[in-house]
Amino acid sequence: MIDADALWRALRARHPRLRVALPADARVTAQHRGERYEFRSRLDAVGQILRLAWVSDAFLAQALYRAKARLQALGVPVLPRLAHRLAMAIAQISIGDPVLIEPGVYIIHGQFVADGLVEIGSGVIVAPFVTIGLRAGDVRGATIESNVSIGTGAKVIGGVTVGAGAQIGANAVVVDDVRAGATVVGAPARPTAQGAG
Ligand SMILES: CC(C)(COP(=O)(O)OP(=O)(O)OC[C@H]1O[C@@H](n2cnc3c(N)ncnc32)[C@H](O)[C@@H]1OP(=O)(O)O)[C@@H](O)C(=O)NCCC(=O)NCCS
Repeated sequence: MIDADALWRALRARHPRLRVALPADARVTAQHRGERYEFRSRLDAVGQILRLAWVSDAFLAQALYRAKARLQALGVPVLPRLAHRLAMAIAQISIGDPVLIEPGVYIIHGQFVADGLVEIGSGVIVAPFVTIGLRAGDVRGATIESNVSIGTGAKVIGGVTVGAGAQIGANAVVVDDVRAGATVVGAPARPTAQGAG
């Protein structure tokens, strides 16, 4: 029989520490915003994290997701739900408990939903109105490898793998694996002539 508690513990133990995830998220966010992204010291990193929480649309909500994930890993009650609610209220970011996001992901504006056994690699860029979700009856979600760019309104459905460096076009509906480096568009998403990878 599957021990669901053990599975959750193993999953939560894989969430990155805040001291690793937050500076990495801040670096890629600042870089994509065309701002200074090399931090001179830990204090400088804290200052930049606070600045981004104030000036960027989604960073505070992303940080709240990070806090939720770590608090859950530490077994803290109540506060994770509060952090989740705040992330939804601030930037419409709803990242489910089983979702694992590596340090260093850029969520451009918010309006991002992900749930299920989804893994998102470092360097991934998520435009607004993106959903990474499940096929009915299957909890396995997508694996989004590093440096994938997901265009606005795109949906990634089911246990597909999107290979490193791929680009998913605006409004694409991804239901099959995407090769590393490919560019896919449309519903269902298919490689463009130029970006077949
Ligand atoms: C998919 C994308 C990355 C392709 O960019 P590109 O490599 O420069 O490709 P091109 O613009 O040369 O387009 C290649 C082909 O795909 C088509 N295409 C491009 N984007 C498309 C999309 N989202 N949906 C459907 N077709 C698309 C083009 O019409 C073109 O078709 P053709 O070969 O028949 O003429 C880009 O169009 C895109 O959708 N980016 C997302 C941007 C975004 O979400 N911005 C919001 C930020 S907040």
